[in-house]
Amino acid sequence: MNLLITGGLGFIGSNFIRYILNKYPDYRIINLDIVSYCANFENLRDIKNSPRYSFVKGDIGDKKIVEQLVSRQPDAIINFAAFSHVDRSIIDPDEFLRTNILGVHVLLEAARQCKISRFIHIGTDEEYGSIESGSFKESDILNPSSPYSSSKAAASLLALSYFKTYDLPVIITRSSNNFGQFQYPEKLISLFITNLLENKKAPVYGDGLQVRDWIFVLDNCAAIDYILHHGRIGEVYNIAAANEKTNLEITRLILNYLNKDESSIEFVKDRPGHDRRYSLDCSKLRNLGWQPKYDFSEAMAKTVQWYKNNSQWWQPLKSGKYLEYYRKQYGTGAAPLEQF
Ligand code: TYD
Repeated sequence: MNLLITGGLGFIGSNFIRYILNKYPDYRIINLDIVSYCANFENLRDIKNSPRYSFVKGDIGDKKIVEQLVSRQPDAIINFAAFSHVDRSIIDPDEFLRTNILGVHVLLEAARQCKISRFIHIGTDEEYGSIESGSFKESDILNPSSPYSSSKAAASLLALSYFKTYDLPVIITRSSNNFGQFQYPEKLISLFITNLLENKKAPVYGDGLQVRDWIFVLDNCAAIDYILHHGRIGEVYNIAAANEKTNLEITRLILNYLNKDESSIEFVKDRPGHDRRYSLDCSKLRNLGWQPKYDFSEAMAKTVQWYKNNSQWWQPLKSGKYLEYYRKQYGTGAAPLEQF
């Protein structure tokens, strides 16, 4: 198979590219990535010279580049390209709308013109919004809360409209929160591990009792691979691994792995519009024949160890200047926008 992957220098995209090239010795990948702040060539250092891998620097919103690449008739397009950090979308929604919605539209349009035979769009559980009890099914109404999740919901609805209106063979995946190697240190797990390794505090928003359902990134990659080969077109598939934890539980786990105590926690002002709980019903994907394989605690231990061993990867990404700006604006410890 020849795959066109977008956003392949980011966290999930780069893990997916490595996963696919290792698993299928005859697959070839073109990676289109704009190289924004969260993209990193280091994420694919080990495979960058593979004859089955090529990189193109470009924006999914750039019609010319996209049309050129799509007209080569890849067997599938898999769109990982997106700005994904909720806190950043709260400060500046612009780039989220531009890339996550308009960029996806450019991709869809090119795929339609070139009659591409499979278009996998990577969505998120955040499109459904918060749920107090029970779990969202794929058929539930989308009710996103942040500019980020709204942009992702808009994109998945647009993609589905291309299936309904133009018969474009679209499949949507919506996964729960990912963790693992090469995650930009702005998300809960990667930020907290790296903060604690630097002897800084772990900034817990509000009461820390918000619930997220965590999946190891390689499980998500395996699920996307499974859906690429076995998913039914026009369908949405939820992907999760049944690891619902409060943010405080996650924080305590990390503290424990790093032999720190609770004095390293800093309770900070809550995120505006903060979703209380995400939860996915994954029976549809299970019935299709896929299930996660990684044990949560083992995957967490592996992840903590990876950040311990790879400070040369994450240290340059953590700039104090931006952190200060963000703290002033929102009183939290998340990494802020690069342009400030
Ligand atoms: P995050 O990793 O940003 O993912 P998302 O908001 O997309 O689920 O955040 C996960 C949870 O952790 C969320 O409830 C917000 C919380 N959080 C903190 O408490 N402190 C932080 O510094 C960050 C980045 C997140």
